[in-house]
This record gives sequence, structure tokens and C-alpha cells, in this order.
Amino acid sequence: MPQYDFDGKVVAITGAASGIGRATARKFAAAGASVVVADIDLEGAHETVAMITDAGGVASAVHVDVADSASVKAMVDATVSMYGGLDIAHNNAGIVGAGANIADMPDETWERGIAVMLSGVFYGIKHEVPAMLARGGGAIVNTSSGAGLIGFPGMANYVAAKHGVIGLTKTAALEYITQGIRINAICPGTARSRMVDEWINGSAEAEAQVAALHPIGRIADADEIAEAVLWLASPASSFVVGVAMPIDGGYTLP
Ligand SMILES: NC(=O)c1ccc[n+]([C@@H]2O[C@H](COP(=O)([O-])OP(=O)(O)OC[C@H]3O[C@@H](n4cnc5c(N)ncnc54)[C@H](O)[C@@H]3O)[C@@H](O)[C@H]2O)c1
Repeated sequence: MPQYDFDGKVVAITGAASGIGRATARKFAAAGASVVVADIDLEGAHETVAMITDAGGVASAVHVDVADSASVKAMVDATVSMYGGLDIAHNNAGIVGAGANIADMPDETWERGIAVMLSGVFYGIKHEVPAMLARGGGAIVNTSSGAGLIGFPGMANYVAAKHGVIGLTKTAALEYITQGIRINAICPGTARSRMVDEWINGSAEAEAQVAALHPIGRIADADEIAEAVLWLASPASSFVVGVAMPIDGGYTLP
């Protein structure tokens, strides 16, 4: 039995071709929602949809480049035309941090990080809000990061974008709460995903080093992050507005 009931709800998730977005898409669908699986990786999005439909759920794959406002608007329009509206959005697409200190970071690396992970969330909120207002309300969950709360050397583009997502979330929450749209952010610690697998690169030693940074002593499963997204999008969190919720095994506590 799913813990939540999202029957009749329409959910759009960016970055849903893998990792946290895929886990979230599967959980929403298992709880009865119709899910738009949006990603720049359309093949991966179709794989997520197949997982959902094989399990008896309802989902469609949509191509989106979140760094492009028109593309994000087209994703929302496609959602409304396929399922009749939009109730919940998870603005989640992301790319890995730069791996270079600021003096050595190419401008293009900085600009792409900001475009995907900060402007991408801005475009998401901008185009999702009108569709939600047409339904009388909704919920938006933005993916920030532990790197939205503390600094990390070598990842200025990522850290700046993720800090920005929290400011954007607080502002959007204030702008739209009186119209029935609750907007919050999650700040995951390290969770198993394509991004993290590439980073760890199959090395047990590297994984152990990353795990040791988390007081809980391990990295997360993407499902553990998805669980928080469902809670923030559900009536169970009805008084939660504009928070940046760490889900990080204690990573940002010290
Ligand atoms: N996994 C972690 O440890 C972790 C920790 C903190 C925050 N996050 C954040 O979680 C989110 C999901 O990442 P993940 O770990 O699941 O990684 P992932 O690489 O598995 O998934 C990211 C997805 O975003 C998609 N994407 C990238 N650029 C895009 C674009 N321009 N338009 C649309 N889609 C695009 C990718 O194709 C991919 O499917 C990201 O915002 C990431 O920064 C992840």
C-alpha cells in the first residue's frame, strides 16, 4: 500500500530520467498520480515511464531543457494538454559540479551550472504557477542540495546555484502561498544516482570516503530523498512553507 494518496493529481518532474527524479516519479505514480517524466535525456525518460507503466501506473515522457524558458513552458503546456492540468511539480534537473576552483573555472562551466540549476528552477516556477492557479492551487518542490547550505571548494557554480534555489524558493513561497501554492526545497546529502555513480566511479574506497562525511555513516538511496518530496507535496505538510529541508544523514550539522 502506498503511504500517500495522489489519486487524480498531475505531477511534473524534471530530471526524472534517473536518480532522485526517477525515484520520485515512481513513488508518485505508485501513489496514484499521473506523472510527466521530463528530462533532456528522452531515452532515460522513456525508461522511467516503462518502469511506471509496467507497475500499472500512468506516466508520459517529455523532452525538456530546463535551461531554456520556452522548453519549460512547452513541458507545462504538454502536461496540461495530456492530463488536463498541473497540481504538483518537482524542479529537480541538475548537472555535476565543476571540479575546478574559481580562478580555473571556465566561464561556460559557471554559466551552464547557473542556467540549468538556478534559471531552470526559476523557469519551472514561472511556468508551473499559472497552470496551478488555474486549478486553484498546488505544490512545488525544488531540489537544492547540502551544497545550498554550506560551501564546497571546486564547485562554485553548483554551490551558488543551489544557494540561489533556496532564495528563489523562499521568495516564490511568499509570492504564492496566499493563492494556495506551497513551495519548498529539499537539500539532499549524497544519494545514489547517475551523478554520484559517475563521481564515485565504482571505487569502494571513494564511496567509503563520501559515506564517512555523513554522520549516519552511509550515503542515501534515492528513494529516501523521494520520500521527502512526496511529503512536501502532500497535505501531510500543509503548514510547511518555504523551507529548505536537509535530508542528508546529518551532513550539514557540524
Ligand atoms: N545525488 C546526490 O547526491 C544529490 C545531492 C544533492 C543534490 N542533488 C540534486 O538532485 C538533483 C537530481 O540529481 P541526481 O543525483 O538524481 O542526478 P542524476 O544525474 O541521476 O539526474 C539528473 C537528471 O537531470 C537531467 N538533466 C540534466 N540537465 C538537464 C537539463 N538541462 N534539462 C532537463 N534535464 C536535465 C539529467 O539528464 C538527469 O536525468 C540535481 O538537481 C542534483 O543537483 C543530488
